Parts: sequence; C-alpha cells; structure tokens
Amino acid sequence: MPMNAQSLSWVEVDAAALEQNVAAIRSNLAPGCEMAPVVKANAYGHGYLQIARLLDGKQFRYIGVHNLEEALILREGRISNDILILGYVPLEDLKTAVEAGFDFVVYNIETLRKLTEVANNKTPAKCHLKLETGANRQGVTREQLPDFLALFSGKPQLQLVGVSTHFANIEDTTDHSYAEFQFTRYAKMKQMIEASRLPVKYYHMASSAAALLFPHTHFNLARVGIALYGLWPSKETYLSYRLSGKQNQILRPVLSWKTVVGQIKDVRKGQYIGYGTTYRATADLKIAVIPIGYYDGYDRQLSNSGHVLINGMRAPIRGRICMDIFMVDVTDIPDVHLESEVVLIGRSGDEVIRAEDVAGWANTINYEVVSRIGSHLERRVINQRS
Ligand SMILES: Cc1ncc(COP(=O)(O)O)c(C=O)c1O
Repeated sequence: MPMNAQSLSWVEVDAAALEQNVAAIRSNLAPGCEMAPVVKANAYGHGYLQIARLLDGKQFRYIGVHNLEEALILREGRISNDILILGYVPLEDLKTAVEAGFDFVVYNIETLRKLTEVANNKTPAKCHLKLETGANRQGVTREQLPDFLALFSGKPQLQLVGVSTHFANIEDTTDHSYAEFQFTRYAKMKQMIEASRLPVKYYHMASSAAALLFPHTHFNLARVGIALYGLWPSKETYLSYRLSGKQNQILRPVLSWKTVVGQIKDVRKGQYIGYGTTYRATADLKIAVIPIGYYDGYDRQLSNSGHVLINGMRAPIRGRICMDIFMVDVTDIPDVHLESEVVLIGRSGDEVIRAEDVAGWANTINYEVVSRIGSHLERRVINQRS
C-alpha cells in the first residue's frame, strides 16, 4: 500500500472493552489460576501486536499462539511475556524455538528425541506435554504416557514445565458429560505424572468456555481466547453460564469493522444487481457500493442475505459478494453520501451487528468471522487510556 493511502476499511479495537473482559474473566477463575491470553490467528482478527501491546503490563506470564511464526511476530514486536506455542513446531524449527526461549506443547516422540539433541542445560526446552483425553487431535494417550515421562527423567535439557489437554465438546452443548469425562481422564493422567516426581509447574486444560463455567478445571493456568475479545464461545456456553445463576453482560465485544460508501447509484425497477444476476430490483432503488469483499474476509455466503449499518439503519445486501465489492440497498436511508461510514460489525446509532449475526448469516461461528477478517486491513486501537 502506498505510504499515504487512506484505509478503505478498518477494524477498531476497543482497549476499554478488552480491559473489562480481562477483569471479568479473571474474576471467574479459581484462586491461584493464571490466565494465558491466546492471540493466535492475528489475535482472532484483532491484530497480534495491537492486542499483545494492550495486554502488556497486565501481569500475564504467558501469551498463547499457534505456531513459531506467530511467536516470532510477538518477539519481533518486543512483547515481553513468555510465549506458549500451542500447535505443532516442525522438527527442523525446534532449535530456533528453544534458542528463542519459547515454551511449546509436545506430543510426539520424534519431537522429544530431537529436543534431546538441540537443547542443553543452559538453554533447555520448555515443554508442555499435551495429553489425549478425548479430542483425538493432538496428545499423548494414557498408554503412551510412561514412555514419554521416561524420556524426560534424568534429562535437565528437557523441562516438563506444563501438562495440558483441550476440551472437545464444551462449546456446542449444554450437556457437559463429555467434558467431565475428559476431566476425569486428565485427572488420572495427572496423578501418574505427579507420581513420576517430575517438577511440573503448570496444569492447564481450560479455554474460554471452561474458564467461564467450570472452576474445577482451572488448575493453575487457563488459555483464554474468544472471551478475551468479548465474544461468547457459543449460545450454549452463554446459556450454561446464565443457568448457573451468574450475572449477565460480563463480556463486551472488542472489535468493530467499518468501511465507507464507495459509490451511490440508481437502479431501475426490473434491473439486476451484481454477478450472476441473482437480485432483480422490484422497485426503483438507490444502491450503495461497499468497497469490501470476500478477499477481505467478508464471506460470499452473505450474498443476498444480511445487512450493514449506515446512519444507524439497516441496509440489506443485494446481489453477490464480489472479491472486493458488494452492494446494499439504501433507498430508505436518509442522507447517505459518498464516503458515509458503513458498519459491517459493531454499532451505528441504536443498531448493532454482532459477529454472531454475521456468523448466522454465513452459516458459521463467531470465531471464524473475526479470525478471517483480512490481516491486510488496518487495526485502529480506540478508547486507550493514556
Ligand atoms: C489448544 C487451545 N487452547 C486454547 C484455545 C482458546 O480457545 P477459546 O478461544 O475457546 O478460548 C484454543 C483455541 O482454539 C486452542 O486450540
């Protein structure tokens, strides 16, 4: 982008909302449980460094990311927290990860063998052993556990800093029996690890849903993503939370997504709008052209469904979402002009579009809606205390 180009579309990141969410989540955590904010996937679309810098100084030991690339973005951005890599680190990158001082999740024998070679007593590998408790994604089974523990013992270059697992069915349901089943499996494997006398500092299994719902799963670390950004993991999590008698409205969405009108035009009754002629005007219309498309993360499934907000009113989407443009009907919205502000997610006057609304229109979940907002778009921090 040329140095002086105006942003056509931008994401606003509300620092005050983030702060409120951090306080609300912390107040839900069991005593002694630290929170590790998860900033993978461009901080769920909010901007790696914008979020990590806002979290700086709020006394988090760890920030969680998915991979080494993300860890290096934070390190190059001079983020001082310890960084916990939650996803796979390729064998040939292990030396870099160890030398950079990152903590990372391990669950392969190959990884541990390689670490035995590349780490040393001065720069040990800081490992979090991931246990398989029911997600069948990453993790060491109960049967494999003794072999893994044997690999750690007597090797000061391999530090077993943490032991983790991840819930498979906690967001999508109000029936938490599978989560309890995983908890029980984890607790049994935890006992085996404790019996090995390896000095484990952190036990962690909770992400947002468990952090909000189940204090007995907190141990001493919770890896919190979506709730930090003011979004509930699901309707079911919200319902379970409310049914437990807890207070409403503890989370505030951090992100708004905005753009401006790029053109206004008249469309006559009977004329078509956009590719595929999927929308035909049933009356004379005034159309606003919005300079955003599926390249920017605005899902093509929003074609002819959903709306944006202009001047506090709903402007329905007409025709297909194109690569970088779509059209909305502004016939009944007064005072719309070239470069009027358009809200894709967020508030305009009394109207609000939530990430969950967009997710519903696009047949997906709020996680996907926010994390897919193009990383090329500007992130603007607002409401920051100086
Ligand atoms: C291993 C792990 N921990 C924590 C999280 C954070 O989850 P949530 O955003 O639901 O808090 C994720 C997200 O997918 C994850 O994969």
